[in-house]
Amino acid sequence: MQKIEVTGGVALEGDVRISGAKNAVLPILCATLLADEPVTIGNVPHLHDVVTTTRVLAGLGAGVTHDSDGSHIVVDPRSVDSHVAPYELVRTMRASVLVLGPLVARYGAAEVSLPGGCAIGSRPVDLHIRALEALGAEIVVEHGFIKANAGRLRGGNVAFDMVSVGATENVLMAATLAHGTTVIDNAAREPEIVDLAVCLRAMGADIEGEGTSRIVVRGVERLHGAHHDVVADRIEAGTFLVAAAMTGGRVTATNARADTMDAVLAKLAEAGADIGIDGDRICVDMRGRRPRAVDIITAPHPAFPTDMQAQFMAMDCIAEGVATIDETIFENRFMHVNELMRLGAEIHIEGHRATVTGVERLSGAPVMATDLRASASLILAGLVADGETLIDRIYHLDRGYEHIERKLSGLGARIRRID
Ligand code: EPZ
Repeated sequence: MQKIEVTGGVALEGDVRISGAKNAVLPILCATLLADEPVTIGNVPHLHDVVTTTRVLAGLGAGVTHDSDGSHIVVDPRSVDSHVAPYELVRTMRASVLVLGPLVARYGAAEVSLPGGCAIGSRPVDLHIRALEALGAEIVVEHGFIKANAGRLRGGNVAFDMVSVGATENVLMAATLAHGTTVIDNAAREPEIVDLAVCLRAMGADIEGEGTSRIVVRGVERLHGAHHDVVADRIEAGTFLVAAAMTGGRVTATNARADTMDAVLAKLAEAGADIGIDGDRICVDMRGRRPRAVDIITAPHPAFPTDMQAQFMAMDCIAEGVATIDETIFENRFMHVNELMRLGAEIHIEGHRATVTGVERLSGAPVMATDLRASASLILAGLVADGETLIDRIYHLDRGYEHIERKLSGLGARIRRID
């Protein structure tokens, strides 16, 4: 079991290149199943979840090839000969459920294992199922599988009771090949959905309204091949910029998309950071200053992203003042709290609200990662704690951050991976 050891006390300085977004490349890989020609995807991050998704596609019979440095993937869906996404793959990555919509739309059949919950919540898929049923799919859930059948899907009206990124993506993909027009109301507005729509349009889909809460899709007969470069990862960028603010340094995220990060950048400015934006470069300068505590309320985009909640909690742990953090999206996304308290943080939880009282110093200790973004918050805390922090179960980290210790070392952090 690999661990990461961080020695605190270094103010980070320098540039860090942001990779393609995990939460965009995963649905885009699934969308290749809709085409009848190969699709090339660029700016692909080297992540474990990407490997898992390519395994799911290969398991369906698709041809998957990588170029030498792995930053491009070509998926050839013409050899797809199965419509079953097996439990052993889906349980390791719930985003595999995103093959459901494309398989039903393209082949009229799909069997996808129920993804099951994870550390941050039960993560049901009822909204995915109801949305696809609105397009005419017949879906039963039995023996741990979602079994869907359809002739050709027909356009329909989908009005989500609550905003769901994955359910919006599944029905958006399915609607591209349905017969007729689909209107999706209360759609998720995340930048990763916009990127998916841009890729689908390049493949010949007829979509408008992505990025707003109403998306209209006019079904077409087929989707052809395309080349799409994945949008920059706003959560990875946010994570490194919070690291700059916490350590009192100055870091520039390059190859980034500031226009997808308004809520995060506003909170960093509120914490006292000087922020400079120049094209695809975002600079956060907090040299010689301690962050001020900032209140956080997570909510669907364009509000503050739940995937940045743990990272800002780490910053509030050493900030000046008291902050409240309300997690409104997932029912159990405070798993990092106990571990941060082992480092000396003062946090009180009441329901979905954590109250954080900033302390002058944290002290390094062995801690355990529980989920992807919790792992990141523990590394951030380790960067400012006295002495060594040893983080266990870092396989969570490798699912969503490309070579994080290499990128942080490049900014001067004392961090290393040990077996
Ligand atoms: C996506 O998950 C992201 N994952 C998550 O990022 C992110 O935290 C989340 O969106 C919210 O932004 C990917 O894109 C691969 P949801 P998703 O459906 O689609 C409930 C990370 O760290 N819900 O928007 O699963 C659900 O339980 C990951 O990169 C239902 O009740 O999120 C949650 O409470 C973590 N029924 C809320 O909706 C459903 O059918 C929002 O979930 C679907 C969701």
